[in-house]
Amino acid sequence: MKRILTGDRTTGNLHLGHYVGSLQNRVKLQKEYDTYIILADIQALTTHFEKPAFIQESILQVAIDNLSVGLEPENITMFLQSKISAIAELTVFYSMLVSVNALRHNPTIKTEARQYGFEDLSYGFLGYPVSQAADITFCNADLVPVGEDQVPHLELSRKIVRRFNDLYGNGKAVLKEPQPLLSTTPRLVGLDGNAKMGKSLGNAIYLADSSESVKAKVRQAVTDPNRIRKTDVGNPDICTVSTYHGVFNSEEHGNICELCKTGGVGCVACKARLTEKLEQLLLPFREKRAYYENRMDQVREVIVAGSERANRIGNETVEILKNSMGIRL
Ligand code: TRP
Repeated sequence: MKRILTGDRTTGNLHLGHYVGSLQNRVKLQKEYDTYIILADIQALTTHFEKPAFIQESILQVAIDNLSVGLEPENITMFLQSKISAIAELTVFYSMLVSVNALRHNPTIKTEARQYGFEDLSYGFLGYPVSQAADITFCNADLVPVGEDQVPHLELSRKIVRRFNDLYGNGKAVLKEPQPLLSTTPRLVGLDGNAKMGKSLGNAIYLADSSESVKAKVRQAVTDPNRIRKTDVGNPDICTVSTYHGVFNSEEHGNICELCKTGGVGCVACKARLTEKLEQLLLPFREKRAYYENRMDQVREVIVAGSERANRIGNETVEILKNSMGIRL
């Protein structure tokens, strides 16, 4: 079985954007691949270093988010980044193989720096793509399911691997070049019409949201601003709710657009229908979440067992790399 590695920073609960862009896909992939899920609590520090308690609380929340949508403990190795000493060690080795300029030109780093208001970037933040190369290679992952924004990081991982093999491999590939498994679903827009649903943007529906909360959020979602009365004709092309129907209610989407354009359905009814569809999706997730929330020890056990397994592989990788670099007494 080929191995995949993917995961999330532990900076708050996951939302529908994560579900559409990656979680949904993980659930499918777990059957075909040896699936490694990283709970990236160290990478979380690169942006949330002032909030360690928040990162800590998020670990179990993000773990439960993953389990609630249908990842099964017996199919996956879910582990905590900070428990894997190999990741820290590989990060140091790899840091010698990457130029500061290459990191400064990484488009995702630039976007995120702007988003977080970082001007003089910390060494850790600038270098997190190097640490991400360690996340991916410590366990010899074949494939990395990612969204568009992570592609530059994966390219860097591949460069590091090639560089390492060239320098220290003695003609052999000590490390495997990971391949991207690009998500094909377009990024989910925020409830406010922002191009991205984001934890820090306040425009997200969380997997952990209650029915009441989902209903209230959809009610406030941005629609065609020119449509004031029900009988006004609407433009679904500029309506967030229409976009969501396209993603979560594709069977009815065409019909709903027609009705909107002719004033045949009002925004209130259209939103109510979307809420119903979202509830259908979220209800089984809520049940699983409740199951795990009543069994937190079991969730911890999944992470402890996963981290042990990951550590065994990681320690072997460190030995192999040190040997090929000639680091020994
Ligand atoms: N950077 C990823 C994100 O922000 C999370 C992550 C950490 C990751 N390590 C990884 C993703 C390794 C894929 C592979 O979503």
